[in-house]
Amino acid sequence: AYVIGLPCVDVKDRSCIDECPVDCIYEGRRALYIHPDECVDCGACEPVCPVDAIYFQDDLPEEWGDGHAASNAAFFES
Ligand code: SF4
Ligand code: F3S
Repeated sequence: AYVIGLPCVDVKDRSCIDECPVDCIYEGRRALYIHPDECVDCGACEPVCPVDAIYFQDDLPEEWGDGHAASNAAFFES
């Protein structure tokens, strides 16, 4: 699945929402989240984010670790 990373926090441009064919991008309090089970890995959201917050899960910048993927999962469990 694709993951929205730290640059989205307090930016929430929302361009990604319009691109997603399966509507799996949800709004959190400070950032948006991609539902890992609903994302079909189409990649349409990735290029439209003005702050480059969206990455394929395995390509997340190293400094973010997989912590953001974990917090994405936690968002949907809460
Ligand atoms: Fe939606 Fe495609 Fe982005 Fe997944 S990769 S969140 S399906 S636009
Ligand atoms: Fe956030 Fe970028 Fe989408 S800032 S809301 S991930 S377009």
